[in-house]
Amino acid sequence: MRSKIALFIGVVTVLSMTIFTCGGKKTVDKPSAPPKENTEKATAKPAPKADAPAASAKDGEKLVMAKCIACHTIDGKKAMSSSLKGLFGQERTVVTKGKERKVKADEAYLLKSIMDPTADTLKNGGIMPDMAMKEAEAKAIVEYIKTLK
Ligand code: HEC
Repeated sequence: MRSKIALFIGVVTVLSMTIFTCGGKKTVDKPSAPPKENTEKATAKPAPKADAPAASAKDGEKLVMAKCIACHTIDGKKAMSSSLKGLFGQERTVVTKGKERKVKADEAYLLKSIMDPTADTLKNGGIMPDMAMKEAEAKAIVEYIKTLK
């Protein structure tokens, strides 16, 4: 008899706890997180060729925000040096080993400017410090600069 009562109390306790916790959960249920993957996919660039190193504009953006934004803007405004916006494809007048020349800001020029900033210096430009960028990082940054039209 005793054990039956105990069982009954036990069942009632478990039931009421279940109801309580379920009800409680419903009210604190947070709205599900925004579908991050989708937004990333929407802005993702087409996958690079299989044999190419993975240089993604997204990685480049992170690097620029961390290391370059103090001196370069991405919105066209002039800061200490050129804005990175619209830079790709522009004509630059640079000084290379004391000689002035005109170059197109193509991938090679941008890579060199990032990895070896004193090789070609902008005419009337300032001095950019060597940022010790790895090639993969510089490539990602160039991919990012290309998106800043
Ligand atoms: C301390 C300031 C400073 C930082 C930090 C800096 N730069 Fe520069 N950068 C300059 C200056 C000044 C110039 C112009 C000098 C030159 O090229 O003769 C320049 C030039 C350049 C150029 C050539 C611009 C042109 O108009 O042709 C590129 C590309 C560039 N920087 C990219 C970067 C990237 C990418 C980073 C981050 C990894 C970076 N810079 C970090 C100051 C800076």
